[in-house]
Amino acid sequence: MRVFRLDGKTALVTGAGSGIGREIALLYARQGAAVAVADIAEDGAAAVAEEIAAGGGTGFPVRLDVADLESARSAVAETVRRHGRLDILVNNAGIGHVGSLTETAPEDFDRLVAVNVNGVYYCSLAGVDQMLIQEPTGGVVVNIASIAGMVAVNRRFAYCATKGAVISMTQSLAMDYVDQNIRCNCICPGTIHSPFVEAYLHRFHANELEETRAALHARQPLGRMGRPDEIAPLALYLASDEAAYVTGAQMVIDGGLTAR
Ligand SMILES: NC(=O)c1ccc[n+]([C@@H]2O[C@H](COP(=O)([O-])OP(=O)(O)OC[C@H]3O[C@@H](n4cnc5c(N)ncnc54)[C@H](O)[C@@H]3O)[C@@H](O)[C@H]2O)c1
Repeated sequence: MRVFRLDGKTALVTGAGSGIGREIALLYARQGAAVAVADIAEDGAAAVAEEIAAGGGTGFPVRLDVADLESARSAVAETVRRHGRLDILVNNAGIGHVGSLTETAPEDFDRLVAVNVNGVYYCSLAGVDQMLIQEPTGGVVVNIASIAGMVAVNRRFAYCATKGAVISMTQSLAMDYVDQNIRCNCICPGTIHSPFVEAYLHRFHANELEETRAALHARQPLGRMGRPDEIAPLALYLASDEAAYVTGAQMVIDGGLTAR
């Protein structure tokens, strides 16, 4: 049974040089899509594009700063120049911050909004503009939000705010373009053991690295953190034609955390 194939489709994945975005880019390419591996970190993007090519897939690196609308527009333009259209946009790039309200400086809040909120807005704007003019019109947007947009996570004031905004943008986009053949959904991961989490551990728990990592695993109901390759299959499903009836949804993969 050939399901969840993306043959003939073109995808742009933001933040694809690392972690969850990398796994999504690799899986999309394995399923037949041509993938724009977009990241602000050019080395990471180039390495993932090489991995795709080594596996016999089609992928190319694109330098992208999601916090800059012109950069978003030129990443979409480069994708269309190479492959004629944009079928799938994955808004995955994101950054974190640790702090309660009173521990969050205005510049930290602004930085998170610039990447996590404006980034999704700018890339969606550039991507949806393209989806509306191509023939046939339409496409799919997959946003990587977080359970931090649904429930409070301790001392993640700015992060929770930005991920709540991603969930809201998902619903607005889905409803505003429901008649234009554009679907939009988001994934809300729990704690996923990616370089994002390792960077947090090294920054804030350098002296108790092993214990804190073990505690993070233990804190999840399933007894361990998730892996980036456990998020990518849902991003594949949402991008595929099999998900034709799915739009405006927020889908949780969190090892049971929000069920507690
Ligand atoms: N890891 C988790 O526990 C977790 C949980 C829930 C949600 N998420 C979300 O998943 C997404 C991916 O996280 P990850 O864990 O794979 O992180 P990661 O740090 O491994 O990867 C993030 C990638 O985004 C890129 N990036 C950062 N700023 C950018 C910008 N301005 N423009 C373009 N690219 C930029 C980075 O260079 C990096 O390659 C993020 O949106 C994150 O908030 C992660």
